[in-house]
Amino acid sequence: MIVESKEAIKVEKTTLDKKFHLISYGCQMNFADSEVVASILESIGYSNTNTIENSDLILLNTCSIREKAEQTIRKKLSSIDHLKKKNRTLKIGVLGCMAERLKEKFLIEEKIVDLVVGPDAYRDLPNLLKEVNSGNDAVNVLLSKDETYGDINPQRFNTNGISAFVSITRGCDNMCTFCVVPFTRGRERSRDPKSIINEILDLENRGYKEITLLGQNVDSYLWYGGGLKKDFKNASEIQKKTAVNFSKLLDLVANEFPKMRIRFTTSNPQDFHDEVIFTMKKHKNICNHIHLPVQSGSDVILKAMNRQHSREEYLKLISKIKQILPDCGFSHDMITGFPNETAQDHELTLSLMEEVKYDFGFMFKYSERPGTLASRKLDDNIDEETKQNRLSEIINLQQKHSLENLSKYVGNTTEVLIEKESKKSNDHWAGRNEQNIMVVFPKKNLHPGELVEIFIESNTATTLIGKAI
Ligand code: SAH
Ligand code: F3S
Repeated sequence: MIVESKEAIKVEKTTLDKKFHLISYGCQMNFADSEVVASILESIGYSNTNTIENSDLILLNTCSIREKAEQTIRKKLSSIDHLKKKNRTLKIGVLGCMAERLKEKFLIEEKIVDLVVGPDAYRDLPNLLKEVNSGNDAVNVLLSKDETYGDINPQRFNTNGISAFVSITRGCDNMCTFCVVPFTRGRERSRDPKSIINEILDLENRGYKEITLLGQNVDSYLWYGGGLKKDFKNASEIQKKTAVNFSKLLDLVANEFPKMRIRFTTSNPQDFHDEVIFTMKKHKNICNHIHLPVQSGSDVILKAMNRQHSREEYLKLISKIKQILPDCGFSHDMITGFPNETAQDHELTLSLMEEVKYDFGFMFKYSERPGTLASRKLDDNIDEETKQNRLSEIINLQQKHSLENLSKYVGNTTEVLIEKESKKSNDHWAGRNEQNIMVVFPKKNLHPGELVEIFIESNTATTLIGKAI
């Protein structure tokens, strides 16, 4: 059952005085979802605590993308098991992708879990918690056609107060054969642009300086009045004419908030429209950085992954972007050891990386996920050692490219938004430039939230080091 009435939520607020501790794993979308969950919990009288031992409710917002991610979460669950013995009223819940994938198996096998809630069911938390607090288990893993949490103002906890994520789509229709996301997060739907603008306005009023528009596949954002992306073909003529696609949304946001820095992630090569490049060029406040996962440099593997583009098309897209936005930074996701990947396929991945020379990337060993097409049709036949060797090779190559690319900044200046104290020194600030590269420099009399020109004096593979001018 889904709570629709805000009244019901208000009534409970006066009667509850409980603390929750929420731990997020996985992608940025999960972290953004946790802020929605925090907002729902606070509306019924729960308050956030950073101390796990003090909490009445521990929630793990989980990730299923690779087996290792799930193992980490299982370990965490075992490590907090003893807290239940100390505090008999403590409740533990799992949210997110693992909840969706494993459903009530969690309650039966793990026993320490009281609550299982999938990514589209957070509005039901007030009801589910009522069940749980009266001693019952509670599960809601229903996926939705139109849930975007558009009307819920996320509660920004663990924030630097400068940059925030704003989700614009949920789910994914791409069905890459290795990926569990379409199963755990459901079909793709877009959020009403008005609610996106309202959320950014609120952030701006609270002093935020940078937003990242977030989706599994932002390029296929399409608002035509609600509903699944795949149902757009049945929309009315008026809906079709007035639909807002991703480049229009970007344009809208950039115009509306000229002082905000705007980023977006994740782009998908097959859905990337040229208009997005021109919109980026038109607006100074849209950062010139594109995270453009490719997964492999081999056409055979791309096909087996059901990526809807070839190596050549990907490289053409990159060179078109470089032509129009010469200072655009690129990053990637890469998978190594996909079923049947030959040494030659692997070489093609390395040569694609040589052609593009990304600033940074996220590189993974293939992990078979139950239920995906790859797991049903293909044998996970690349042995662990080969996977690891290939992964090391691509990581080393990326390291080389990162060092080369970042060294080009030395002797030049780059504009940085100050975000927070450097992790390594409390005399230094850290922030990112447009290309999403971390820059560290002495604090002097500067403050978080300021945009400063930094003269770069040296670099590592991940960081530029300099001073304000
Ligand atoms: N479009 C999404 C992709 C989500 S998954 C986004 O918003 O980032 C992030 C990355 O994890 C993918 O691009 C892929 O490189 C990697 N990945 C996904 N499934 C995987 C699997 N089964 N094994 C290894 N890596 C995987
Ligand atoms: Fe996964 Fe491919 Fe979508 S990687 S999230 S199915 S674009």
